[in-house]
Amino acid sequence: MKKLFLETLGCAMNVRDSEHLIAQLNQKEPYELTTSLEEADLIMINTCSVREKPVSKLFSEIGVFNKRKKEGAKIGVCGCTASHLGDEIIRKAPSVDFVLGARNVSKINEVVDKKHAVEIDTGHDESHFDFGEYRSNPFSAMVNISIGCDKQCSFCIVPVTRGEEISIPSDIIIKEVQRAVDKGAKEVMLLGQNVNNYGRRFSGNEAKMDFTALLQEVSQIEGLRRIRFTSPHPLHMDNAFLEEFASNPKICKQIHIPLQSGSTTLLKAMKRGYTKEWFLDRCAKIRELLPDAAISTDIIVGFPGESEADFADTMEVLEAVRFDKLFSFKYSPRPHTEAAAYANPVDDATASQRLSLLQARHTQILDEIMEAQIGKVESLYFDELQKNNRIAGRTDGGRSVLVEGSEELLGEFREVKITQAFRTQLIGELVSKS
Ligand code: SAH
Ligand code: F3S
Repeated sequence: MKKLFLETLGCAMNVRDSEHLIAQLNQKEPYELTTSLEEADLIMINTCSVREKPVSKLFSEIGVFNKRKKEGAKIGVCGCTASHLGDEIIRKAPSVDFVLGARNVSKINEVVDKKHAVEIDTGHDESHFDFGEYRSNPFSAMVNISIGCDKQCSFCIVPVTRGEEISIPSDIIIKEVQRAVDKGAKEVMLLGQNVNNYGRRFSGNEAKMDFTALLQEVSQIEGLRRIRFTSPHPLHMDNAFLEEFASNPKICKQIHIPLQSGSTTLLKAMKRGYTKEWFLDRCAKIRELLPDAAISTDIIVGFPGESEADFADTMEVLEAVRFDKLFSFKYSPRPHTEAAAYANPVDDATASQRLSLLQARHTQILDEIMEAQIGKVESLYFDELQKNNRIAGRTDGGRSVLVEGSEELLGEFREVKITQAFRTQLIGELVSKS
């Protein structure tokens, strides 16, 4: 059997795209996954271009692949960086055999045997494509609900690399979730760059439907016990959506709300469409409905023009919301984005200092949140076997808990008492059989 080395960078959609790549390849001929570059017949990297760092590392990685690969093995560059650099990748690194853009995953079998093939059409519509089945975690299934993104956040390259937003018809989504449930998944993660904009545009003549209605439909599926989704946009968080989120027992009480900045002035420059007050109001509404909901976020520091006062606004939101998880980044100017031409860049030392301040305060808050979990009894869904007779599960709020136990717990729900708390990991013990 041929061997495939596949490295995946970036967001959850990239992880799902990698599963689709494997599924499609396997339809033509079976591949076995390998972690050894020397053994691989096909080496692929599924890239991310949201920040500059992984992009600049790409060419040195290709160099390593080329040095270590066996005679005749192929190298493919896929994903967002493939989309926006296209054949420049092959010009710079002729050892690359093919380039496949983020929205062209379904064409993998057309390029895999073609020397220097480049497929990066961001107008390509994969919203009706029937991908093959492959899941890295069969207990918790990722399911795409839309492709592309229609927002034009001034810092973000994603609309350039993934094209315009198209929703996947609900009957296709329901069928896919049903198939995953039939194969043992009790949890799904619905994926899109902007999930709660669902239904804004279908490429066929599907009937109108919004994200709240989709959640209701998905939750009808028997055997499915937990629904998660990522990421919603704060702008589209109307009360109907939040009330469905709060009242639907299958929807996990975990929500990722990308803040980006706490300053209304910067949010305007970022073209996010909401204010600091709107963001705080939405979080307050969630906490009013669900005092224990786990709210996570993304924050960018050092965006052009960010003053001390703007940064203080961000710190204020951090203090007010007390996020469960924080993904924080220094602003990185990206090609083809509006903000790349903005004046008043923040110097790197200031941006680094702000990032450290933000992360240090978040860490203190997180330690308090995690500490407060000790003694709680949570329903855990076990989905990952670990070393040393331990198994990992997640709480409804998405927190990872390690418990002593083995394979027979995989795919099962159990009540677990939290006994110890570390910053990113809880430890617990079983309190019941089911
Ligand atoms: N809507 C997408 C966001 C994709 S980008 C999603 O739901 O996953 C993921 C995060 O990267 C963004 O929320 C933002 O915080 C960060 N990001 C995007 N562009 C960036 C840039 N130019 N510099 C730094 N961080 C950026
Ligand atoms: Fe990027 Fe904004 Fe869309 S962050 S992915 S343009 S919602």
